[in-house]
Amino acid sequence: INLQKATFTISAPDIRSLPAEGGIEVAFAGRSNAGKSSALNTLTRQKSLARTSKTPGRTQLINVFEIAENKRLVDLPGYGFAKVPLEMKKKWQKALGEYLQKRESLKGLVVLMDIRHPLKDLDMDLIQWAADSELPVLALLTKADKLKQGKRNSEVLQVRKKLAALNADIQVMAFSSLKRTGVEQANNIICQWFED
Ligand code: GTP
Ligand code: MG
Repeated sequence: INLQKATFTISAPDIRSLPAEGGIEVAFAGRSNAGKSSALNTLTRQKSLARTSKTPGRTQLINVFEIAENKRLVDLPGYGFAKVPLEMKKKWQKALGEYLQKRESLKGLVVLMDIRHPLKDLDMDLIQWAADSELPVLALLTKADKLKQGKRNSEVLQVRKKLAALNADIQVMAFSSLKRTGVEQANNIICQWFED
C-alpha cells in the first residue's frame, strides 16, 4: 500500500452519499484547525489534495480519497470550534457523528491534536469511544515544530501515559507537517491498518 496513490473520490454531505460499504477506511478526526487536512496532504505527499486553511471549520464535508481498490482515507469535519453559525455546525457535526457510529468500513482512526493543547474533553470523548469500539487509534500531536525538543517529548510522554490508562490499541506520536516529523512512522501504522 502506498498512500501517495491517493486520489480524490467524493465530498459527501452525509453518510448516504459515501461510496458503498466494504473495504477499509482510515479516518482523520480532531478539533477544527488541529491540522487534519495538512497531515493528509503530508502523508500522501500531495500539496493540495485536502483543502487546508488558517480559518477553523474549513472541512465541512466528509472527504474521501481512494488509495487502492476498497482502501480509502477520509478527512472528517473538525469539532469544537465555537465561531461557526449553529445551523452549519449542527449539519456537519451530524455527519461526523453518523460517520463514526455507523460506518462499518472504518477500521482505524487517526486523532489529531495540537501538541500545545491536547486531550480536550471532545478529544477524550472521541478516543474513549474508539477504545470502547475496539477501533485502533493513532494519536498525532500536530504542529510539533511549535515546541522545543524537550517540551515536545514531555508532552508526548504525558499524553501516552494518560491514554495508556484506557488499555486500548492507541499509539501516540509527535507530528509536524511543516518539518515532516513523525511522517514515516504514521505512514507505517496506517499502511499496516490497510493490510490487516
Ligand atoms: P478544519 O478542516 O477546519 O477542521 O481544520 P484542519 O484540522 O483540517 O486543519 P488544517 O490542516 O486546515 O490546518 C490548520 C492550520 O494549521 C493551517 O494554517 C495550517 O497551515 C496549520 N498547520 C497544519 N499543520 C501544521 C504543522 O505541522 N505545523 C505548523 N506550524 N502549522 C501547521
Ligand atoms: Mg480540514
